[in-house]
Amino acid sequence: MSAPFTIAIDGPAAAGKGTISKAVAAHFQMAHLDTGLLYRAVGAKVLQGADAVAAARSLVPSDLEDDTLRGQDVAQAASQVAVIGEVRAALLEFQRSFARRAGGAVLDGRDIGTVICPGAEAKLFVTASAEVRAKRRYDELVQRGQTADLDEVTADVKARDARDMARSEAPLKPADDAVLIDTSNQTIDEAVAAAIAAVNAKKG
Ligand code: CDP
Ligand code: CDP
Repeated sequence: MSAPFTIAIDGPAAAGKGTISKAVAAHFQMAHLDTGLLYRAVGAKVLQGADAVAAARSLVPSDLEDDTLRGQDVAQAASQVAVIGEVRAALLEFQRSFARRAGGAVLDGRDIGTVICPGAEAKLFVTASAEVRAKRRYDELVQRGQTADLDEVTADVKARDARDMARSEAPLKPADDAVLIDTSNQTIDEAVAAAIAAVNAKKG
């Protein structure tokens, strides 16, 4: 595939967007952008005392490589800066130009199919029950050797989803033409196969 072809993958926290996006990008030999990292990088700078809008306007690629971005505190800070319209505006053009690169691109986030790339050739909305998603995020934290409490992680995930769905700027919701993939009872391989089939259907 050499012409631009954008695959938009949205959904709530820990639904499997990143895992599916990486596998889909590898399958179709496309570039992949985890747009959550942009908001996490801004959130991390705010936790260090920076102004959110200034941080979003001055982000550089190396800001996305910080290991501490995966933490729960950074995730909450990310969803707090993500309600600010000027923060979203500052990050828009980078995402749009990434999406149109030759060879195609997979972007995952919350508003890719609705706001960033409303004309994306394929749109997926990946979801799973809140309990399943919280357990997955909890297992990840434990595997990384971090102390975690399942009730706290569940509350955290639910609070972030609620904030992401309720905000006025680019709220989390499926695009009208998105294919829904519920991964609650799917293995990773099954979810990836469903995503690849949905993209192939759009490629005709
Ligand atoms: O990117 P997002 O936050 O939506 O989720 P992720 O980081 O791709 O997935 C969260 C966790 O769920 C990872 O540890 C995945 O391995 C796991 N997962 C799973 O167990 N079953 C799936 N069908 C998809 C993801
Ligand atoms: O990996 P997980 O799904 O838990 O979160 P993430 O994708 O890294 O996103 C972190 C936060 O950034 C989300 O809770 C959203 O508030 C925000 N975000 C957004 O507003 N728009 C995007 N396109 C991606 C993330």
